[in-house]
Amino acid sequence: MSFESTRVKELLQDYAPEKGNLMAVLRKLQKECGNHLSDETLKEVAKTTGIPLNRLYGFVSFYTMLSTEPKGRHIIRVCKDGPCNFAGGWATAELLEKELDIEIGETTEDGRFTLEHTACLGTCTAAPAIMIDDEIHANVSPEKLGEILKKYK
Ligand code: FES
Repeated sequence: MSFESTRVKELLQDYAPEKGNLMAVLRKLQKECGNHLSDETLKEVAKTTGIPLNRLYGFVSFYTMLSTEPKGRHIIRVCKDGPCNFAGGWATAELLEKELDIEIGETTEDGRFTLEHTACLGTCTAAPAIMIDDEIHANVSPEKLGEILKKYK
């Protein structure tokens, strides 16, 4: 039995097989499987839950927090919406691109970081904001950015 098969079955025991739990199950699987949902993983979810595979792909492609493409160990999401934009969000994105030597949508060569844009993170009063994995960093300044990145190996 493959890792995906075993893990899907374990997770579905933790979460009742209700539609509302699908996001939680997929996010956990994604985190454990290299920050993406492979064809094999989604086929296993479809087989175990009875959800048609094409619906699962539709679900995954709708939510930016889910991906079928392999990503880095840590995903940096830079808020691109108005308040963050006015407070320096674009400058933060440019700084990250320069620091990591990648562009938005790319992964560093060592697989450490993937850099993405995101919609509002809900911390507009403390803009600009970024999210790394599940942790939000607010009032991000160029000075703080280096220290923040050091936390993620
Ligand atoms: S606009 Fe960036 S957190 Fe709301």
